[in-house]
Amino acid sequence: MRFPVGFVWGAATSAFQIEGASREDGKGPSIWDTFCRQPGRVAAGATGDVAIDHYHRHREDLALLAELGYGAYRFSISWPRVLPLGRGTVSRAGLGFYDQLVDEALELGLEPYPTLYHWDLPQALQDEGGWPTRGTAAWFSDYAALMIERLGDRVTRWATLNEPWCAAFLGHFAGIHAPGVQDARAAVASSHHLLLGHGLATAAMRAARPDAQLGIVVNPAPVVGLDGIGDDAVRRVDGLRNRWFLDPVLTGSYPKDVLDDLAAVLDDLIEPGDLDTIAAPLDWLGVNYYHDLLLEPPVEPEPWPYPFAPPAHTAARTELVTDLSWPVTPNGLADLLRHLRDTYPGLPPLAVTENGAAFTDPLVDGRIADDRRITYLAGHLEALASAMADGVDVFGYFVWSAFDNLEWHDGYRPRFGVIHVDYETMVRTPKDSALWLREFIDSSRPPADAD
Ligand code: FCB
Repeated sequence: MRFPVGFVWGAATSAFQIEGASREDGKGPSIWDTFCRQPGRVAAGATGDVAIDHYHRHREDLALLAELGYGAYRFSISWPRVLPLGRGTVSRAGLGFYDQLVDEALELGLEPYPTLYHWDLPQALQDEGGWPTRGTAAWFSDYAALMIERLGDRVTRWATLNEPWCAAFLGHFAGIHAPGVQDARAAVASSHHLLLGHGLATAAMRAARPDAQLGIVVNPAPVVGLDGIGDDAVRRVDGLRNRWFLDPVLTGSYPKDVLDDLAAVLDDLIEPGDLDTIAAPLDWLGVNYYHDLLLEPPVEPEPWPYPFAPPAHTAARTELVTDLSWPVTPNGLADLLRHLRDTYPGLPPLAVTENGAAFTDPLVDGRIADDRRITYLAGHLEALASAMADGVDVFGYFVWSAFDNLEWHDGYRPRFGVIHVDYETMVRTPKDSALWLREFIDSSRPPADAD
């Protein structure tokens, strides 16, 4: 498989999942720090207090990524680390950390791809209402402006939000993510305010740095109804998961059918001008893809993140399933990319900003033979290449994740890293998949790109 000259190969992480140092250097608590402390919320009572201690090990972590052949590093900035209360007083130490991280990445030949919001809202803003409150969008925009002012001389590619669907619907309807709310009105309001925050931030960042490359990271997925799931259920899930986010950002309108489905909770949420703000032109779009949504009738009750859609089970078994019981459906990535290209004229260039799988394999004689992860990655890279051969404009691919880390409410058990982390000693060991990827990256360069 060959990828074009200049194709970006990267690895991805997020602040809460790796940094630790949850109260160091004046960092304020985030909604995830709070959530982790509520009994029963997170598997085995895991917290982000230490995580993989990246806050203290960033230098060696980045050096390892450079050694493994990546040209880019996608990470997120912890809002409460730079603004402990979400607004107002800036933490010099917090800003300094990201300053240094960016400098180190550049020195090592890793292009920094920061994401401004990967779910760790400052608790102080949650106390004032959080994402269900309109004002949070404006605070987000101010924070974005601060970050581009500080790092914009060295960082070109920015993402505003990571997977706003999760923040809104896992956090406020299913209640399995922070802040753990279960309320359709709060979830829908959150989704709109996240998108509004994205739009406001994009305008503010554009004004500060006209040359910046601004994007958003979403997690659309093909929705497939298996036996016993009707077309209307598929339409509703696809509506909330995919079109509710892509349409406003890319076309400046919410899908009519979803507006109808949500009528009971919309009230006067959407104000005149909001959609123009949300549809601020983008330079790129990040797509996170793990698996198709294969809907089947529910066997037993489980948390359901799609309001006004009949509950279903979203992870039908395939031949290979991951440790999170996620099906392995690589063709879905190609279908999704083609679908985006066909559905949204004027689609900006795409990057696959996350793709990967949770598999646990033993460390034996210093080696981790994670063959299932290699199978997973190889299948998805083949799908990506086939979509690109069909003309879909994709400029980069980031594996999730660089390191084993804190997988949100599932705690530390699911291991997504291509680099193993021993949580006792914090020793990092590249898995076979990392070595395989390095080879793959190397051999997929067009001959002209080789040095
Ligand atoms: C995505 C998240 C990322 C990670 C992967 C497995 O939804 O963006 O932080 O948890 O799933």
